[in-house]
Amino acid sequence: MKNFFQRFPDSLIRIGAVFLLFVSAILFVRFIIPSSLKNEEEHVKATIERETSRSVRYAGSDVCADCHEEYNVKKLGYHRNLSCETCHGPAKEHSENPTETKPVVPKKREACSLCHTYNPSRPTGFPQINPVVHNPLKPCVTCHNPHDPKPPRVPQECQACHAEIARTKAVSPHVQLECTTCHTVPQQHKVIPREVKASIPGDRTFCGKCHSKDSPAKETPKVDISTHGEKYLCWQCHYPHMPEVE
Ligand code: HEC
Ligand code: HEC
Ligand code: HEC
Ligand code: HEC
Ligand code: HEC
Ligand code: HEC
Ligand code: HEC
Ligand code: HEC
Repeated sequence: MKNFFQRFPDSLIRIGAVFLLFVSAILFVRFIIPSSLKNEEEHVKATIERETSRSVRYAGSDVCADCHEEYNVKKLGYHRNLSCETCHGPAKEHSENPTETKPVVPKKREACSLCHTYNPSRPTGFPQINPVVHNPLKPCVTCHNPHDPKPPRVPQECQACHAEIARTKAVSPHVQLECTTCHTVPQQHKVIPREVKASIPGDRTFCGKCHSKDSPAKETPKVDISTHGEKYLCWQCHYPHMPEVE
């Protein structure tokens, strides 16, 4: 065999090899690849056939309305854009035969934390919690109705949502100042905090109300605010919730 190939010049053998490769590629495309992958029309037809031959598993929320009042409850709540089957799983069989098959009822915390666990890539304003510290051990549904979720009560103290700041201020020289001395807080901020914002002080004269040389406030350390700290905002150097003086 070796001798047989040695009778031809190298270049001829290479051309032969390329030729063989070429022919086998043509044969492969012609006979081995199924025609449905080459012809667009046939391809579309085969795909439609394949998909329609699958059995339908989801019924859609509207079907549930016939038998479950949850439909009308959910329609008006925060979960209105969630399909029933997002939580209860495919329920077509159940809709046709309600007593034989039952959809899953996701009572575990994990079912809710899937969407509500804090994740920085979610849009601001989307309600998120840290499931490790947010009322742990109890299922979410003991406090939230899954079909009409809302926070069960509106917390009145700033501390409920700004615990860290409240704890910091409590041990600072500003301990006697109310949060609302420096922040104007509309009542709605406590209900929809991301839509209705609390104000923050605007400029240096705000702190000057108590700290400038001509301020009537007693018991406050005074500075000459026309020169002290130059042009910078006071809170670029002093953390307002824990103003320290080095
Ligand atoms: C034809 C009426 C009918 C339709 C349509 C229907 N259900 Fe039901 N469903 C029932 C009945 C009846 C039960 C109670 C079965 C039992 O307890 O024996 C039930 C029970 C349930 C339960 C509770 C299961 C359990 O283990 O307690 C869930 C969840 C549920 N349905 C979800 C759905 C969803 C989601 C849909 C829409 C995709 C739907 N159902 C459509 C009649 C229906
Ligand atoms: C956010 C997830 C979620 C969505 C969306 C949802 N459910 Fe539920 N559903 C639950 C959970 C969790 C429970 C269990 C509640 C409990 O045990 O207190 C439940 C319970 C039920 C039950 C059983 C009630 C009972 O007392 O046994 C029915 C019936 C039901 N859901 C129907 C529906 C229908 C119909 C829709 C759509 C209109 C729907 N659900 C949408 C999560 C959801
Ligand atoms: C598939 C994703 C998804 C799942 C699963 C889900 N939610 Fe939600 N949830 C949402 C969306 C979307 C909103 C509406 C957000 C909005 O309006 O900005 C929402 C709103 C809420 C709110 C309202 C918060 C507020 O702004 O006051 C609560 C509470 C809540 N869900 C609790 C639950 C609980 C409890 C469960 C589990 C039974 C659950 N969610 C499962 C997507 C989900
Ligand atoms: C012991 C009752 C309780 C349990 C259990 C509970 N929550 Fe809450 N949840 C609340 C209360 C009360 C609020 C209102 C804010 C506050 O006071 O912390 C709230 C607020 C929320 C909010 C709104 C946060 C926002 O920024 O708008 C979401 C979302 C939420 N809970 C989801 C869940 C999920 C998901 C679970 C389960 C993993 C869960 N909750 C378990 C009581 C509970
Ligand atoms: C229900 C929870 C909640 C309560 C109660 C609450 N806040 Fe807030 N607050 C928030 C959230 C959430 C944000 C963040 C909004 C954002 O990131 O857009 C915020 C933001 C702020 C900001 C920053 C505004 C800005 O423009 O950056 C200030 C200041 C503030 N809150 C002050 C207060 C004060 C003072 C109180 C009490 C009188 C209070 N909040 C009560 C949830 C709350
Ligand atoms: C002495 C005035 C003062 C008091 C009292 C005060 N703040 Fe502030 N707060 C400020 C100033 C000034 C800023 C802006 C800081 C910045 O932009 O760096 C601010 C910013 C904030 C912010 C947004 C930025 C951040 O640090 O997260 C929140 C939230 C906030 N304050 C909540 C509170 C709460 C809650 C209390 C009461 C426990 C409180 N503040 C008390 C002056 C004050
Ligand atoms: C309503 C009056 C009031 C306002 C407004 C106010 N403070 Fe104060 N400030 C005080 C009081 C009272 C003390 C505590 C004096 C003491 O400890 O004896 C204080 C103390 C301080 C101290 C000194 C801390 C120390 O260790 O001596 C600094 C710095 C300070 N504030 C910065 C600010 C800044 C910055 C602002 C503006 C964001 C501000 N303050 C707004 C009343 C105010
Ligand atoms: C560039 C940084 C910077 C800025 C901006 C600044 N401070 Fe100061 N502040 C300091 C430093 C550093 C000290 C401590 C050394 C000193 O007394 O000069 C201090 C001290 C203070 C003291 C304590 C004085 C005492 O006698 O105990 C007060 C009150 C104070 N600042 C208020 C303010 C107010 C109000 C503003 C805004 C008008 C402001 N600071 C802006 C850096 C700054």
